Amino acid sequence: MVKSIQEVVPRIAFGGDYNPEQWDEKVWLEDAKLMQEAGVNLVSVAIFSWSVIEREEGKFDFSWLDKVLDILHQHGIGVCLATATASPPAWLSKKYPEVLAVQENGVPYQPGSRQHYSPNSKRFRDAVRLIVSKIAARYQDHPALKMWHINNEYGCHLSECYSEESLQAFRKWLHDRYQTIDTLNEKWGTNFWSQRYNEWDEIQFPVNLPTFYNPSQKLDYKRFMNDAIFELYKIEKDILREITPNVPVFTNFMYEFKPLNYFEWSKEMDLVTWDSYPDPREGKPYRHAMHHDLMRSLKNGQPFYLMEQVTSHVNWRDINLTKKPGEMRLWSYSTVARGGDGVMYFQWRQGKAGAEKFHGAMVPHSNDPKSRTFQEVKQLGNELNKLDHLAGSKTNAKAAIIFDWENWWAVELEGKPHNKLSYLNQVYKYYKVFYEHNIAVDFVRPTSDLTNYQLVVAPLLYMIKNGEETHLEQFVSQGGTLLVSFFSGIVNEQDHIHLGGYPAPLRSLLGITVEEFAPMSDDEKNIIVANGELFETKTWSDVIHLEGARPIATFKEDWYKEKPAVTFHRYGQGNSIYIGTDPSESYVNKLLEGLFQQLEITAPVESPANVEVLERVKGDNIYLFILNHNEDSVTISLDNELTYVDCLHEKPISNEVTVGGTDVAILSYS
Ligand code: GLA
Repeated sequence: MVKSIQEVVPRIAFGGDYNPEQWDEKVWLEDAKLMQEAGVNLVSVAIFSWSVIEREEGKFDFSWLDKVLDILHQHGIGVCLATATASPPAWLSKKYPEVLAVQENGVPYQPGSRQHYSPNSKRFRDAVRLIVSKIAARYQDHPALKMWHINNEYGCHLSECYSEESLQAFRKWLHDRYQTIDTLNEKWGTNFWSQRYNEWDEIQFPVNLPTFYNPSQKLDYKRFMNDAIFELYKIEKDILREITPNVPVFTNFMYEFKPLNYFEWSKEMDLVTWDSYPDPREGKPYRHAMHHDLMRSLKNGQPFYLMEQVTSHVNWRDINLTKKPGEMRLWSYSTVARGGDGVMYFQWRQGKAGAEKFHGAMVPHSNDPKSRTFQEVKQLGNELNKLDHLAGSKTNAKAAIIFDWENWWAVELEGKPHNKLSYLNQVYKYYKVFYEHNIAVDFVRPTSDLTNYQLVVAPLLYMIKNGEETHLEQFVSQGGTLLVSFFSGIVNEQDHIHLGGYPAPLRSLLGITVEEFAPMSDDEKNIIVANGELFETKTWSDVIHLEGARPIATFKEDWYKEKPAVTFHRYGQGNSIYIGTDPSESYVNKLLEGLFQQLEITAPVESPANVEVLERVKGDNIYLFILNHNEDSVTISLDNELTYVDCLHEKPISNEVTVGGTDVAILSYS
């Protein structure tokens, strides 16, 4: 049986990607010693080393990797061993050009960068099988091996392929899904624009078309590519499971990444890991926080690892801003506070050659242990090593936001009433209120178990699939509060309209029907009136008829003025709220604050602005994180009936705590 993550790494993991194949052997020992000094306990090795391990077809050289793993083990550093498949060697595509992914215009990608493979290539899959089996067989008993790091950031650069082999695979995928061509015609609505198919081999990719594509076809292409890349992952996973049934496996996810349905992928992973690169001056810290919360939610709250972040600055933006002193440390604690049991970096040693040589790393080019970067790394590593007891603790959220990848794919397809709608931006808008109020929130799928939540928010849930509405009805009828925003419940899983009056599947739950949509141009606005207060609104208006709900805000202007903009409906033991527009943040804030109050959902402690407060729970122990993103210190009152232990300074504390600017306090109490 596969071991739990806490069994293999019973602590907060600290380390990063380690690419020793880019360095002379004499550096390896120095690396291991510096890692020890920095408190590193886990590194990911061999991610991009296929061309070094298998220099020619079938000829494997593991001598360097043997030495690296031995050195790491001798220094007490565990290894997430990569399967080396992230970037295929040039000899492979020279000999078998069909392994190359093909662009929309029919031109294949070439070696010389990375990830140029087609996930649908049988030849590529065979080559993957071979190298993964060899690596697994060789290192199955190596004591440094803690976990398998499969491939790397699947789909990062390339999540679509238009090769002939991909086309055959697409047709097969469709055949498996629909069985008969008549069913496919019905599911794709092909009587529209004379798109009927008689034979499977008439079907092409939904690209290179004179005008609009068939949205059902496009949606299926997205599903197909997600599945194809997922298959590739599962090929590796199955081999690893067979050879090393006890060793956990993962691949690393990305943020704001649309092509892969991470909820589905997580089911096949023992650990969720992801890579985070917020722009230091973006000024939207809630986004970074939301990515953490989403990652924590993918496996029902099981702690995740932040597999990659940068110490200072990346090299792939136009201008690569550097994190200021203390920021990297503080943001790393935000990771831990939001459920991270691992804080890792790309990468250990800053590269001397190649496209990423200006990307920050734990050891900068200067190789100076006194450098600011290394000193900050070392401080954090040594602090995290004091927090072993925290590993495995969980977040107890009373609220959740529905997030659905298929909905994301569908709602952003072309041909909508408003074609600038961004699913993520709508989700961010609601999430931000939770973030700013320090209210823990999970992300769930429309069909997730909602029994632990009092409040569920469903922004822009355009697609309601396979009876998901029944699940939501149950949640509300049993006492839950559901908030749904505009353009929700409109289509089924094929992107066909749910007939019966918008939003047909949610009509009785919300107690309304929407007769018409009235999207607004970029420079149009309206006002909504709620309890005599005025709030700006933009993007979208619904023309709503009440069917049991009552209005709690109405439009002030335009031809639908005085009609409901926001409605409230009692349904069973609970309440449903519908927002038929895109109101200002101040309104969303006000509405959610009212719900927090009514449902008694509160922050762990009161705090001034820009102070993140979160809790993690393990048995009777509660860990209270107070992260001060301000430059000046803040003093936070604590529950005077409790005694806390300051985990970083290892001393008791009561009544109040002062947290310096860009600093953190972690207090445990029970
Ligand atoms: C990604 C990759 C890494 C590296 C970093 C640079 O996250 O996984 O290999 O390229 O980006 O930011």
